[in-house]
Amino acid sequence: MSAERIDGKAYAAGLRQRLAAAVPAFERATGRVPGLAVVLVGEDPASAVYVRSKGKATVEAGMASFEHKLPADTSEADLLALVDQLNRDATVDGILVQLPLPRQIDEQRVIAAIDPDKDVDGFHVANAGRLAVGQPGFVPCTPLGCLMLLQDRLGDLSGMEAVVIGRSNIVGKPMAQLLLGANCTVTIAHSRTRDLPAVVRRADIVVAAVGRPEMVKGDWLKPGAVVIDVGINRVPAAEEGKTRLVGDVDYASAAEVASAITPVPGGVGPMTIAVLLRNTLVAAFRRAG
Ligand code: GUN
Repeated sequence: MSAERIDGKAYAAGLRQRLAAAVPAFERATGRVPGLAVVLVGEDPASAVYVRSKGKATVEAGMASFEHKLPADTSEADLLALVDQLNRDATVDGILVQLPLPRQIDEQRVIAAIDPDKDVDGFHVANAGRLAVGQPGFVPCTPLGCLMLLQDRLGDLSGMEAVVIGRSNIVGKPMAQLLLGANCTVTIAHSRTRDLPAVVRRADIVVAAVGRPEMVKGDWLKPGAVVIDVGINRVPAAEEGKTRLVGDVDYASAAEVASAITPVPGGVGPMTIAVLLRNTLVAAFRRAG
C-alpha cells in the first residue's frame, strides 16, 4: 500500500482564506479588526523566524499584528508589566509570548499572567482545565490543527483507537484530551512505555510528538492506520555540511503501511499558524460579546 499524503499546507491555506473572509464582518460589527500581540524576548534565530511568519500571516488575514521585541536581558518584572499592559489593551484580542524564554524568566509565571480569554496559545492552566472538563476555552494550536486534519480525513472519529506518543503540555496531553473529546479510545505513550511498537500497532490513529528523528517505523503500524507526524527534527543531509528536516516518523517505511500520513515539512507545521489566527478571531468575537 502507498499512503495518501495529507497536505497540511493546502488545508492551512484554505483555513487562512476562510478566516480572512470572516474578518470584514467583525470589522463592520465592531469598527476595528482583530488584533494579535506577539512578544519575543531575546534573539534566538528560530524564534525570530516563527515570530516573523506569525506577524506576516496575521496581516495577510486582515488582522492587526502588534510585535514586541525585548532584549535578552529583560527582567521578569518588565515582561510581566508588558503582559499586564496587553491584557488591558482593548485592541489586543490575543497574546502570544514566544517560548522558550531566557533563563532569568519563569515561563509558568508569565503564562499565568496572561488573561485566559486572550491566551490564544491555550497554555494557561485555566484553558488546560477548560479543555479537560469540556468547557469552551482555547486549545493549543498544534494539537487542534492535528485534530482538524484527522477529522477532515476520517470524519467521525468515534470508537477509534488513538495512540499519542509524547506527553508534553503543549502537544501530547492536549492532543489526548481532544481525541478523547472526539470519542476515541486514547493511549498516551512516552519514554517509559514498555514495548512501544506493540502499543502503536493497536492504533487506528497515531500522533507522534516526541522529538526523535524517524523513530516510528512502518512495521510498528497497523495496516491502514492514519499517521500524524508532529516532529520537526533537523538532521545531517547526505550532502556534506547540509541539513534536512525529518519528522518523528520514518516516512518511507510508514507510507508502505499507513493509509494516510502527514509529510515533514508541509504537514502539521503550517497548521499551527493557521490555528493561531483561528484562535485570535474566536477570541475577538468572544470579547466583542
Ligand atoms: N515556541 C515554539 N512553538 C511555540 C508556540 O506554539 N507558542 C509559543 N508561545 N511559543 C512557541
